[in-house]
Order: sequence, then structure tokens, then C-alpha cells
Amino acid sequence: MKRQFTGQAATDFSLMIHGGAGAIRDPQRYGPSLRAIVESGARLLAAGSSALDAVVHCVALLEDDPLFNAGRGAVLNAEGDVLCDASVMDGRTLKAGAAAAVRAVRNPARLAYEVMENSGHVLLVGEGAERFARERQLRFESEDYFKTQERVAQLAKAKRERAIALDHSGVADGKLGTVGAVARDRNGDLAAATSTGGVVNQLCGRVGDSPIIGAGTFADNASCAVSCTGVGEDFIRTSLARAAAFFIEFRAMPAEEAAREAIRYLVAKVNGQGGLIIVDREGRYGQAHSTPGMLTAAFVGGVARVGVT
Ligand code: GLY
Repeated sequence: MKRQFTGQAATDFSLMIHGGAGAIRDPQRYGPSLRAIVESGARLLAAGSSALDAVVHCVALLEDDPLFNAGRGAVLNAEGDVLCDASVMDGRTLKAGAAAAVRAVRNPARLAYEVMENSGHVLLVGEGAERFARERQLRFESEDYFKTQERVAQLAKAKRERAIALDHSGVADGKLGTVGAVARDRNGDLAAATSTGGVVNQLCGRVGDSPIIGAGTFADNASCAVSCTGVGEDFIRTSLARAAAFFIEFRAMPAEEAAREAIRYLVAKVNGQGGLIIVDREGRYGQAHSTPGMLTAAFVGGVARVGVT
């Protein structure tokens, strides 16, 4: 499963997703879900859906899958609660929407989309965001839906070890959490979406990079679509998603080179831990990480390919 997806998609659309970065102990476990989700998103794009609809669709599916640290599989904070963050950005218009520290919303990525399209704002947090989700008639779930046995055990271990840990770090199975998707549709439009439960045993109220436009998510038709995963504080302090787009727009790098350069920058500036995926304005893929591995899947040459790099 050691594969890296770079270069051209070889179709008239591009789609790449990620399921977190870190030291992936059991990659086979994630492959079937990643493959099914990228295939599902690719079917939409092949039928003419927008990049925006495709990335929200893929991230919502990742949120519904308890394997990933977002939505249903979100990690627990220090109080044993699940509070989720998500964002989405439309490369056509630079419109963006995000939600942070929301409880019980089944698909935070869909809430981010609603914030973008129907709130007049970019970022809503906490109870206000939840009220808005109810107004927009989004689905809510009970506490039991989110608190999987695996996540409860993971928090207990983190507390024993006094650790604040990423989903895929030693406290879990070595993988850093967060999920995301980037796409270029048949019209050449770009979009990105990212979603997370944050880090295991985080303080209640802590927000990472995933709902911060320019840190965890960025999309602009002039350059690329980017979704990040890793230690959110590192990505916020380096505005990493925006930095990657800058390398493409102003230094004419292809996606592959921009991804590598962004991770070099992350490490040089803050010794940051994590990774990112990119689709550029030409539809080329890029991915890079400073962690031992990253879970990704992409639609390449007309088929879904899954790998841990
Ligand atoms: N990258 C997710 C977080 O730090 O919350």
C-alpha cells in the first residue's frame, strides 16, 4: 500500500481525499472505506457535479464512517465530549463556510456548506452554529452515535498517559486525525473541504486548523484546492493551506512540488506535524507529510487508488 498520487488525474476531473496522517499501524483497515468514498465522489464528478458538491459529499461520507476522526468517529475531548469542526471553500468565488466546536451535528461539513451559502458569515461556533444547523434542518444524532467504544478507550488511555494526542498518535493507532477532500470538476472549478473531531483529550473549547480558512482548508481557481491534517496549532501558525496555494499562484509550482515545499516550510518554521493534499488548477495531484504516513485515495486514470505514503 505504499503509493503516492502525484501528477495528472488522466480524466477531465480530479478528486483526492485523505483520512489523516501519522504512523498508520493498520493501513488495510482503512482501504475499503477510502476506496468506496473516492469512487462515490468520482461518480458525481463524472456525471457533471460541481467540485463543491463532490468534496462535501466525500467528507460527509468520511464523517459517517466511525474509522475516521470526524463526525461519527470523532475523538473525545478532556470532558468526554465530541465537539466537531469543519470548513468548505469554493474556488470559483472564494466563498467559504465553517463551523467550530459543534455538538451532535451529524455532518459538520454540511453545516459548513450551509454557513457559506445561507448565513452571510464565514465561521459560526458552538450553540449559535447548532441553532443555525437546526434552522437549516440538518441531521442531529444522539450522544451514543458519536461515543464509540474505541474512542472511549482512547480517551481513557490518553488520560492515564496525561497526553493530548492526535487520533493516529501513540494513544490511538499512530494516525493523526482529520479528513478532507479536494476536487477539480469538469468545468475546471476547484473546491476543498475538511472536517475533524480535533485531538484526543483536548481542552473543551480548543479549536484546531480544520475550520480555519487558509490554515486547514483553501481553494481558489487561480491556484489550487488544499486540505490539511495534523497538529492544528502548527497549521494555524503557518497559514499552511494558503502558503501552499501561494507557491502555486505566485511561484508557478505544480501541485506535487507545492505540497513538498509547504511541508518543508511547516517543518522549518514550527517543526510541524501533519500533511496535506492538493489538486491544482490543471487537475494535478500533490501530497506530502512530515509524519511517517498519511491515508489518501485519489481517482487516477479512471480508477480509485488507495495508499499509505
Ligand atoms: N488538524 C485537526 C486539529 O488539529 O484539530
